[in-house]
Amino acid sequence: MRALPVDCQGLFEERAFVHSGAQGGMVMTLSQAREKLEKYGQEHVLKYYETLSEEEREALLAQIDATDMEILKACGHREELTRRGVITPLSVMQLAEIEENRASFTDTGIEAIREGRVGAVLLAGGMGTRLGSEDPKGMYNVGLTRELYIFECLMNNLMDVVCQAGNYIHLFVMTSDKNHDVTIKFLKEHGFFGYREEYVHFFKQEMSAATDFQGKIYLEERCKMSTSPNGNGGWFVSMKRAGLITFLQQQGIQWLNVFAVDNVLQKIADPCFIGATIQRGCVAGAKVVRKSAPDERVGVICLEDGRPSVVEYYELTDELMNARDENGDPAYYFGLILNYLFSTDELLRISEKNLPLHLVERKIPCLDGEGNPVKPEEPNGFKYENLVLDMIHQMSSCLPFEVVREREFAPIKNMTGIDSVESARKLLQKNGVEL
Ligand code: UD1
Repeated sequence: MRALPVDCQGLFEERAFVHSGAQGGMVMTLSQAREKLEKYGQEHVLKYYETLSEEEREALLAQIDATDMEILKACGHREELTRRGVITPLSVMQLAEIEENRASFTDTGIEAIREGRVGAVLLAGGMGTRLGSEDPKGMYNVGLTRELYIFECLMNNLMDVVCQAGNYIHLFVMTSDKNHDVTIKFLKEHGFFGYREEYVHFFKQEMSAATDFQGKIYLEERCKMSTSPNGNGGWFVSMKRAGLITFLQQQGIQWLNVFAVDNVLQKIADPCFIGATIQRGCVAGAKVVRKSAPDERVGVICLEDGRPSVVEYYELTDELMNARDENGDPAYYFGLILNYLFSTDELLRISEKNLPLHLVERKIPCLDGEGNPVKPEEPNGFKYENLVLDMIHQMSSCLPFEVVREREFAPIKNMTGIDSVESARKLLQKNGVEL
């Protein structure tokens, strides 16, 4: 049984907040839509316009109005997007150093949490299609003899820190158009797995259009362009758009711990990690593990033109994958587990800067030439994404912080094999979690 958190009396009257910056307004006219589409070579989007009902027409015009088509130009110069600066190794705070300072780092982190200076951000806007389910990934049940949902594992892990610090932590959950309502409904139905509802806040990330390999927008329906969430890098801008910055400032939240939904061993708001980042005077921190193989599907931490940076696994060249340092050890050996700490001041400073764009090959549901819906078996086009890992390069400093893989990294990407439901179950059991 957990001890009850002590310092959690009536901060808020309201229940879980849904933050939306959306504003109503006039929808663009057909001729304005045509003009915009012509500018970007996307006139085919109106192919079925004449056959649509009044309501459908309005929906399509509103979508055309709201869609950023400027980014689609990137399709024409993809090679420029992956061009990088000079990559060199970055030293990591390794386990031995962390163990030596564990007590002191932890005290510093706990103090920050007690003073309400730490918030957490759950990135849960992704589609989770690799699990073969339409549901948000967090709703997946990893239990064997009982129900144990991914969201529940995360809430339990967060609750451990709440108990240790004696103080609740504000949790901001990023969803997307594809999963917003169902995520909120699920968490409400399960009573937020024991977390205090008034400390949970939802906000939506933006969507971007999905195109074929030539940059032409697909239609998902006759009245709707294909879209997908715009990557996990837009999280802070989306928080800003949802009006949450004022809330952060009112609460005195100076640090945000950003983490992925899919790692069931994820330590959230880990006091030792927070304390180490603060004590080392860094404005960001990134948890890393030793890679299990040179081609493991994790981003690697490095320096780029002398600043901290990350190269994502699908952009890692063979040369970098096999590079050795002066001791003959692999030079880019530490992989990101997608658990970052960011100073909110620093986030505000960089929030006006654009992040690089990544074109990711994906299977995009679309209409065929006759207007019938198709679910492709193979990638048929691009999603346009910003990635959270690119924020590291914009930070003035970052502490890479090593963690023990078996204790903190059990990502669920697939049903079986590497990074799967199967492997995560084994790791949960190893860590004493009853399934
Ligand atoms: C991610 C990391 C990779 C890291 C690995 C560790 C990114 C881009 N990649 O890879 O560097 O080594 O995890 O397991 O961060 N998400 C959204 N909105 C989106 C897309 C994704 O919220 O539009 C969320 C997902 O719900 C998930 C997380 O971001 O929580 C990771 O997304 P995913 O695209 O699965 O990244 P990976 O390929 O697993």
